[in-house]
Amino acid sequence: MLRALRRQPIDRPPVWIMRQAGRYLADYRALRAQHSFMELMKSPALAAEVTLMPLEAIGTDALILFNDILTPLEAMGAELEFGDGGPKFRHPIANADDVARLVTPDPSIASPDIAETMRLVRASAGDDIPLLGFAGAPFTMASYLIEGGTSRTFHKTKLMMFQEPALFDRLLSMLAETIASYLRYEIANGADVVQLFDTWVGCLSPDDYRARILPVTRRCVELVRAGCDVPILLYGRYTSPLLEMMVETGVDGLGIDWTVDPADARRRVGQSVALQGNLDPDVLYAPRDEVVSRTLATLERFGSEPGHVFNLGHGILPDTPVDHARAVIETVKSYRREEARG
Ligand code: CP3
Repeated sequence: MLRALRRQPIDRPPVWIMRQAGRYLADYRALRAQHSFMELMKSPALAAEVTLMPLEAIGTDALILFNDILTPLEAMGAELEFGDGGPKFRHPIANADDVARLVTPDPSIASPDIAETMRLVRASAGDDIPLLGFAGAPFTMASYLIEGGTSRTFHKTKLMMFQEPALFDRLLSMLAETIASYLRYEIANGADVVQLFDTWVGCLSPDDYRARILPVTRRCVELVRAGCDVPILLYGRYTSPLLEMMVETGVDGLGIDWTVDPADARRRVGQSVALQGNLDPDVLYAPRDEVVSRTLATLERFGSEPGHVFNLGHGILPDTPVDHARAVIETVKSYRREEARG
């Protein structure tokens, strides 16, 4: 995986799956029957156990810390609940007073469970398998704080962006600092790669991305980079129009969704970044044979591309047949690149 992210030659792409530790796994559902999601996340022994589940269940090439992008927001003082309808903030951010009440947390004090979870994962998995850390990117994090949860339109977020630009920019720059400090904390505790999730930033126009989001995201990346050389990935959904600008944030790799043609993405972004993706998660509901053939087709689309990390184009869905997730992983693992085949 590290070779792929540095765009060095490898005989097949490494593979992991966004949300690989989650509800499509029977073992996860069994643990969730006994503990809330928050309890799982905050108990290092349980969080480490969940982090490790995909290794045995489907055989991924990398592990991703079991946690959530919203954890740092709770540490900033925003009260968070995970109910059946997804995450909810009790007091969404609406004005300058709300922003002023947010604090800049020290992750080692606010989230010591993360370091302990990473230590337990490492002790059990050994040094060879890469461990990914992650955080939400500033825009996506702001959208949760302002909307109070998941949104379809991001109307409130965009209202603040356009009606109170100074306040919005202040919120984003606070978020950039906090996010960077969490990523640095994860790197200090053994993350080999980190991924920034800007899942919802595709709701913005390219001009607004350039003017309002690119600078603060680049700043966040620079803060992570200062003094450490761990590869940084940036993922966004429906962000095809933004790819060139996402490269300008200074990351090492871009996560692309299934609406992007990999060869086209490569032509557009040049040679400086790796690409990660991009099978449609809904394809995993097709018959198993088709899951295999669509995985192969995706691999072929990336061609002899050295900097490819195989993944889905967004997180795996909760009721995906686990056997189909395994089929994806096995297909990638047995694939050999053109030049390595002969
Ligand atoms: O990838 C992994 O397996 C690592 C853990 C991880 C989770 N969430 C665990 C989780 C990661 C990397 C995330 C990222 C995350 N969380 C994102 C960005 C990526 C994406 O999928 O778009 C976002 C937007 C969130 C916020 C969030 N957390 C939502 C919207 C929800 C509710 C929807 C849902 O899937 O339940 C969560 C809860 C959540 N985060 C669960 C898990 C395993 C489900 C909790 C449960 O068991 O009920």
